[in-house]
Amino acid sequence: MFADFAEKIAAKLTGRQRAGLLFRLISENAWQYRRSYAVVLVLMALVAATGGAAALIMESVMDDVFIQRRAGMVAVIAAWVLVIFLVRGASAYGQTVLLGRIGNGIVAGLQTRIYDHVLAQGMAFHARHGTGALTTRITHNCNAARQALDLVATRLGTDLLSVVALVSVMLWQDITLSLTALVGLPVVLVGVAALVRRVRKLARDEITLQARIVSAMSETIRGARIIKAFRLEPEMRGRMSAAIEGVRERADRIVVLRGLVSPLMEAMAGVGAATVILYGGWRVIDGTMDTGSFFSFVTALFLAADPARRLAQLNVQLRQHLAGVEYIYAVLDTRSGIRDGADAIELAVTDGKIRFEDVRFTYGEAPALHGLNLVARPGEVTALVGPSGAGKSTVLALIERFYDATGGVISIDGQDIRGVRIASLRRQVALVTQETFLFDASVAENIGFGRPNATAAEIEAAARAANADEFISALEQGYATPVGEGGSRLSGGERQRIAIARAMLRDAPILLLDEATSALDAEAEIRVQEALDRLMAGRTTIVIAHRLATVRRADRICVMADGRVAEEGTHDVLVAKRGLYARLAALQFGQPADLGKERG
Ligand SMILES: Nc1ncnc2c1ncn2[C@@H]1O[C@H](COP(=O)(O)OP(=O)(O)OP(=O)(O)O)[C@@H](O)[C@H]1O
Ligand SMILES: [Mg+2]
Repeated sequence: MFADFAEKIAAKLTGRQRAGLLFRLISENAWQYRRSYAVVLVLMALVAATGGAAALIMESVMDDVFIQRRAGMVAVIAAWVLVIFLVRGASAYGQTVLLGRIGNGIVAGLQTRIYDHVLAQGMAFHARHGTGALTTRITHNCNAARQALDLVATRLGTDLLSVVALVSVMLWQDITLSLTALVGLPVVLVGVAALVRRVRKLARDEITLQARIVSAMSETIRGARIIKAFRLEPEMRGRMSAAIEGVRERADRIVVLRGLVSPLMEAMAGVGAATVILYGGWRVIDGTMDTGSFFSFVTALFLAADPARRLAQLNVQLRQHLAGVEYIYAVLDTRSGIRDGADAIELAVTDGKIRFEDVRFTYGEAPALHGLNLVARPGEVTALVGPSGAGKSTVLALIERFYDATGGVISIDGQDIRGVRIASLRRQVALVTQETFLFDASVAENIGFGRPNATAAEIEAAARAANADEFISALEQGYATPVGEGGSRLSGGERQRIAIARAMLRDAPILLLDEATSALDAEAEIRVQEALDRLMAGRTTIVIAHRLATVRRADRICVMADGRVAEEGTHDVLVAKRGLYARLAALQFGQPADLGKERG
């Protein structure tokens, strides 16, 4: 009956599931530091032992100095006390430094793991987790993991050992008196278990809201112009303060719950101390216990109170930190849908013929491609045109394997791209995306990302080909000019030319251009187009374009509608057909007045 009860309490206190999480955290992150931890434990034991020694020496102080008045002992005891505290100080120092270093190592290790994991993921992963959540994982939550491990190490190392040492002193002095001191313990255990449950839920909410704060902050920075132009400040402030308040409210409630452990423990200590004084005092007066033992006992009891309270709080605090750890594992445990299979081969591009056969794909609910058939031939320019949302960008994303098709086959030179190594596939493809993305680095570095180890001369040649050399040279620091976060210090057209230069530098047999020239003025576009023409020679090129000039040049035009190729042919053939293309062409390229509009 009692065993049952004890087991229930133990399960509540440790929380079975949480024990698993803690175990995993230890085995994956702390185990490699076991040697350092062993040293830390020894140092902690020293700290604990010196605490016990200090209590023990009280017996001598009482008996030898105060009662028997032995003058010689005063200096000896004083010397011992000094030694005890010096050892205690040195051990505490070593322990703090070692434990701090282990913690730093654990955070660094986890951050690397999370980041590598994020890098390895497909696009669907990013859509699911979001900036705020992932940023919080690598900052807050990694620190939570460290705190959880630190907590376990210090509590078990210092406090548990201290309590054990001090309780040993108590037991050695008097067993019955020791039991009397612990009458309140069961009440505390039950109370703490109840607190733990509530902290867990609050801690989870807190983390979700924390992520929302980070998201709101990053959106505010990225969307600064729109926020100002549309006067969204009150709206944004409202969103932010809801998240901030939410976190604060949770944190406040956790503080209250954590704080509740103290009165519980104090009440227990009060009851214990009162009983000890009543019963022990009576025995000293009675003559069955000597004064020295009694004082040593009481000192041990008081010294034990603090570490015991911290031990009681351990579970509540641990629960809070482990909530962060849960989220780290939620990220680490999502497997990338797009990985190299065990039998993946190197893609061998001979001609660069890309073929889509009955390809189906869906992002979430509605299918984006259904039954797409398409062939892009080597040495040819294939243009994808069609209404917005027809699935044009999706076609390029599937060639790069940002996503895997849900049905059908995409092949390059007869090799199903799902069976080739992703790295070997992406090496053969140069992509200019619809939204130009630049890194917070210099112009030269941004172009250089196109090909590892490109020389400065190669980078400049690519920039010249992309018609970017002129404006780059005019920048304050030329090629060394930092472009700012997201390339914010450059104009849209300048960004686009850098992205084109990057793709040119890549010199890959397959070239994918998603509205690559949409932000250029007419003159720049003509010159970039010439460069692209040179680049396209001998490669397989797929361009998505809205402008007649680009589309007309294509060897083959695929008109997409509703995730399929609706019509196919050259400009003249398609216009003669008087179908969808003819309509689009008339609307889009028909009147010169419209040419200005589509540039926006
Ligand atoms: N990341 C995504 N998650 C969910 N749905 C998406 C995503 N990207 C695109 N879609 C949907 O898939 C469909 C095809 O999108 P896609 O970007 O391929 O169109 P598009 O032809 O490139 O259009 P546009 O000319 O406007 O760039 C659209 O209905 C779009 O809403
Ligand atoms: Mg698109």
